[in-house]
Amino acid sequence: MESPVHQIYMITGANSGLGYALTKRLVAEVYIAKRQPMTVVMACRNEAKAKAAQSQLIQDLFDDEDEGRQVLQILLVDLSKPTSVIQACADFMKRFQRLDILYLNAAILNITGVNISNFFYNILTRPSYVAKTGGDAIDQPRGLVTEDGLGLCFAANTFGHYIMIKELEPVLKAAQPSKVIYLTSTSAVPDYLSLDDYQGIESANPYESSKRLGCVVMLQLAELLKSSGIYVCMASPGNIASSIIENPIIYACQIGALTMMRLAFASGCNFTCENGCTSLMYLRDIDPYTIDSKVIYHSDIWPWGNPFVKHLQFESPDMKLAEAAESLLHDLWSQYRVI
Ligand SMILES: NC(=O)c1ccc[n+]([C@@H]2O[C@H](COP(=O)([O-])OP(=O)(O)OC[C@H]3O[C@@H](n4cnc5c(N)ncnc54)[C@H](OP(=O)(O)O)[C@@H]3O)[C@@H](O)[C@H]2O)c1
Repeated sequence: MESPVHQIYMITGANSGLGYALTKRLVAEVYIAKRQPMTVVMACRNEAKAKAAQSQLIQDLFDDEDEGRQVLQILLVDLSKPTSVIQACADFMKRFQRLDILYLNAAILNITGVNISNFFYNILTRPSYVAKTGGDAIDQPRGLVTEDGLGLCFAANTFGHYIMIKELEPVLKAAQPSKVIYLTSTSAVPDYLSLDDYQGIESANPYESSKRLGCVVMLQLAELLKSSGIYVCMASPGNIASSIIENPIIYACQIGALTMMRLAFASGCNFTCENGCTSLMYLRDIDPYTIDSKVIYHSDIWPWGNPFVKHLQFESPDMKLAEAAESLLHDLWSQYRVI
């Protein structure tokens, strides 16, 4: 009998939240339970946090530390810095010849304030709206840029991941059929994206703008890459309590809100990062040829706690916009490439 192929997975932002939970589930449910040989590359920006997460996972999952270090490897990358992403991809390709699944998970959401009365009004009157969009309670800063002058959310949440796909295309192709899974949010509705400000620098909602742009660009990449056996798709973790919301008051409100919303049958009130991974594990398992690039695979859960995957049709999939958006990012990426 042929021995199974040693698969390589990469997860950006694997040191915390959803990325950490996904790393743990993959190792426990695929490497340990199914005995599938694999390496999970934890792509993180902070070396100390990455090593702490790696050590904790090894302690929780492995008897043999050396085996744990073979399975769980670290790649340092700051997604908000294009040169760091290009360097990290070159490092990856020196270490690995293939990439089976790339989970584009890392993201930032900067919050400057929360309007508590709006928050409770929304929860009591429109729980489904809050579950989908987060409601009208969160204020984000306008005009944040990186040292390269790129919109901060745009750079970290979207452009860094775009560069990763482009730079890693040879190893994704080498593993065909391979999968690229972009994490988005149901809050990323069409209104938040304007191609005149595609980096979201002027936007009052730079997080949603970056996520919407990411989705639109993924639609185009799905078309461009499928002939190379690379299947690009979108997933949403629903609402989870993770470190993306750092303020303890907002975090406490989020937990209270999720409890009320789940009881009101609002969609995606997953609470835990493990439950948020439902759609990510599902996408790992399914036949790549059945993936629909115009669906958001959404982690959902019944009020009594059974997880399931909901297929949300992507709102307004405009392929002309997708082509124009991808072309903007392609031109920007070209400016950073070493000839
Ligand atoms: N939480 C939710 O309810 C929710 C809802 C919808 C969608 N999502 C999406 O789910 C994904 C995971 O979110 P989460 O809640 O797990 O967030 P999280 O706990 O804040 O984790 C985000 C991860 O991204 C990393 N990261 C941020 N900026 C980076 C950069 N420039 N370079 C490299 N890594 C970077 C963080 O690293 P550090 O630890 O170094 O900061 C962290 O590991 C995100 O794409 C998010 O948009 C979450």
